[in-house]
Amino acid sequence: MAAPSSVPRRPRIVAGNWKMNRAASEGAALARELAALRAGDAASGKSPVVVICPPFPALESVGRALAGTGMRLGAQNLHAETHGAFTGEVSGGMLAAVGCEWVLVGHSERRALMGETDAVVAAKLRAALRDGLTPVVCVGETLAEREAGRTEEVLVRQVTVAYHELEPERARATVVAYEPVWAIGTGKVASPEQARDAHRVIRATLDRVVDARAGHELAILYGGSVNAGNAAALFAEADVDGALVGGASLEAASFWKIVAAAGTAG
Ligand code: PGA
Repeated sequence: MAAPSSVPRRPRIVAGNWKMNRAASEGAALARELAALRAGDAASGKSPVVVICPPFPALESVGRALAGTGMRLGAQNLHAETHGAFTGEVSGGMLAAVGCEWVLVGHSERRALMGETDAVVAAKLRAALRDGLTPVVCVGETLAEREAGRTEEVLVRQVTVAYHELEPERARATVVAYEPVWAIGTGKVASPEQARDAHRVIRATLDRVVDARAGHELAILYGGSVNAGNAAALFAEADVDGALVGGASLEAASFWKIVAAAGTAG
């Protein structure tokens, strides 16, 4: 069914995933550069939601540098439990206590390198919501899965397990990121058509698993080698609501070109 015109437009979101880069002082310096760029843009009023996800030890210093800019602080991971004997882990409540409002869940590096299963991702998604954080639920196929013609099956499975029996109003407090694993950190960006097709599969799955309007209402970001040169073409796709940016988020000027492209597209 076509969207009635009264349905609000989905937000545009650009999130920077710094991964295991930038210690506390370096992170604060980068955040101050971003704050200066943001201040320069403030008059236009067209900025998308900007979320910065530094490593845990830089959260506080980056949060201080972002304060008052309107940019949001996010973490890259959380544990599903609230507290306890989980050496080396961090809970959503602890993240909220240092000013985090967002958190990445199920990034492919965590799925592949840290053994996070679909069920673990589902538990973390619920924990983030419980703790008042906006989860960015990352999904995406590997190169082998794409080449075997299994992209749709993988996306349907990942989204279905993550959102199974989640109340629709809680599902609407989440964001999805489509990140084909073969495009992450490789310089091989998905074409706008590949991103669009994957986002449509995700929207149709959300419609089925959550409710009939969820797929239309949730923001879906594309991630995987997004840079200043390719962002505008991706954002020109109506189904692409923004980007999750790794490498290009580590340099303020390049990241801000992506933010600017998101502000002008659509
Ligand atoms: P990339 O990483 O932009 O460096 O490809 C994206 C991500 O992993 O979120």
